[in-house]
Amino acid sequence: MKILLVFAHPESRSLNGALRDVAIEELTAQGHEVRVSDLYADGWKSEVGHADFPLLPPDARLVPVAASKTAFEAGALTEDVKAEIEKLLWADVLILQFPLWWFSMPAILKGWVDRVFAYGFAYGVGEHSDKRWGDRYGEGSLAGKRAMLIVTAGGWEEHYSARGVNGPIDDLLFPINHGILYYPGYDVLPPFVAYRADRLDEAGFTEVAEGLRERMRTIGTVSPIPYRQQNGGDYLIPSMQLRPGLGDPAAPSFALHLNETREALRQAGE
Ligand SMILES: Cc1cc2nc3c(=O)[nH]c(=O)nc-3n(C[C@H](O)[C@H](O)[C@H](O)COP(=O)(O)O)c2cc1C
Repeated sequence: MKILLVFAHPESRSLNGALRDVAIEELTAQGHEVRVSDLYADGWKSEVGHADFPLLPPDARLVPVAASKTAFEAGALTEDVKAEIEKLLWADVLILQFPLWWFSMPAILKGWVDRVFAYGFAYGVGEHSDKRWGDRYGEGSLAGKRAMLIVTAGGWEEHYSARGVNGPIDDLLFPINHGILYYPGYDVLPPFVAYRADRLDEAGFTEVAEGLRERMRTIGTVSPIPYRQQNGGDYLIPSMQLRPGLGDPAAPSFALHLNETREALRQAGE
């Protein structure tokens, strides 16, 4: 398979750099073809701005959604963005690798998404009707491809467990997995997360590296996270709410981290 690894760490001689090398080595050994977008090394520009839309007159008001749509349709996005889109279309699998910074991805990677996931390519795709709400959430330009995250985190695994103070890791990564990767159509594989990343000794690194190798060996076969398809009948259109009767009402969520007594008072208006 063809694999694109987008790497978002400023230092090659980091844990992330070492894990990137492990991933590439294993993927290559399995016969996959790997390309890397090394965002810091490439000097990736992360902010969306006027300069991203060469056709837009300098004094014109910038409406990012409209400018993105016009530029994508006209094939007039900047060369750096066009090159990334070409790589995404080339790749069967997309890997985003980053250290967890403030419970999310580093700004440079968010800026890569903001600029590369253009209107008409990653969003604003497909028809809206009483049966469909565009091609998104499991459908879209990138449908049929796989994507996964490789993440390192300073915190312990327990801190990111169902009742951990940081919130469950799957909830924290939901906006990326569901909102960024599933949205334009990717089948999203379970993330690979390395915890206690600032305190790994050699034995710890060996264990993490072996876990990552195993995930790289199964990248083409592991089952994706079973998100619901938007247009598959599970959601009401146009409210896009899950149909009554579907889903476990007792499923835990961030609400678990509200103080029950104070929340009851708040709900009562006190
Ligand atoms: C700006 C910044 C924010 C961070 N935020 C978090 C965080 O929200 N949760 C966490 O577990 N670790 C956090 N960390 C720790 C990093 O995740 C950790 O240093 C990194 O994964 C180690 O990988 P590296 O050696 O390749 O940099 C943060 C570190 C930095 C520098």
